Amino acid sequence: MEIRKAVIPAAGLGTRFLPVTKSVPKELLPILDKPMLQYVVEEAAEAGIEQVIIVTSPGKESIASYFQSQPDLDSRLSDSPELLDKVRHASNLARVSFVIQEQPLGLGHAVLTAREAVGDEPFVVILPDDIVVHTPGVVAQMVEVSQRYNAGVVAVEPMPWETVQNYGVVDAVSAGERLHKIRGVVEKPKREDAPSNLSIVGRYILPPEIFQCLERTKPGAKGEIQLTDGLLMLLEQAELFAYEFLGTRYDGGTPMGLLRASLEFALARDDTREATRSLLRSLDNQ
Ligand code: UTP
Repeated sequence: MEIRKAVIPAAGLGTRFLPVTKSVPKELLPILDKPMLQYVVEEAAEAGIEQVIIVTSPGKESIASYFQSQPDLDSRLSDSPELLDKVRHASNLARVSFVIQEQPLGLGHAVLTAREAVGDEPFVVILPDDIVVHTPGVVAQMVEVSQRYNAGVVAVEPMPWETVQNYGVVDAVSAGERLHKIRGVVEKPKREDAPSNLSIVGRYILPPEIFQCLERTKPGAKGEIQLTDGLLMLLEQAELFAYEFLGTRYDGGTPMGLLRASLEFALARDDTREATRSLLRSLDNQ
């Protein structure tokens, strides 16, 4: 079945970015000049997604205004087609709608909040603080896998074994190149207990049955409904594959991860490469 809708949870507190996230949503923090949120909406649009459902929270109204057209700004920029194109681009990528998660009760709860907007069809969940660079993008790669196997797909990335205790990892058996059939999911396992070093990255293609599972999922220790608990329940009735995507992932959920992404993006871009190189050289000499 065609994957037409994407859910982008963006209602978290962003505590690792405090104090800036007191008033600026983490998802709008930029890599160079573009918010992380826009990178993932572009990734969805490239994969043929028609409707993007963003889960926001009270106080994060700036996320909705980012995607609204701004006639005043447009008229001020009427002499600069290039700038006009930049400000209009975000709203032209896909149909964007919003649902509100009243309280940050976890990623699973955020996805459940989008239930009505998604309806009875498979969809993709994209976390805007996992930024992956590749053409085609990860969502496009996963849509292809999902359609080939007619199943759900979770993006994974092999991590050094000594770091697995920081991630959610899959218990899976090989099912082909870059592909594994998932048997279970384990949150932050000790190295000696970890079933694999394949850590889950923020992209999931899920059948609508996930909503019933999330509805039945009990909140964990911090009162949050975890998506991984919902996935475990889903595995009892549906097939899920772990897919080792092609591309470089940046962790935009921490200040150092975002700094790294910013530097690497600046080194990759023609208009910023030389200045960034000379900046790095001058810092290295200090
Ligand atoms: P994180 O696990 O990074 O949490 O969420 P967070 O609140 O954003 O950041 P920290 O850990 O406090 O620094 C991953 C994604 O899921 C969304 C976040 O907005 C982020 O895009 N999320 C998380 C929700 O939409 N609702 C929640 O209740 C939790």
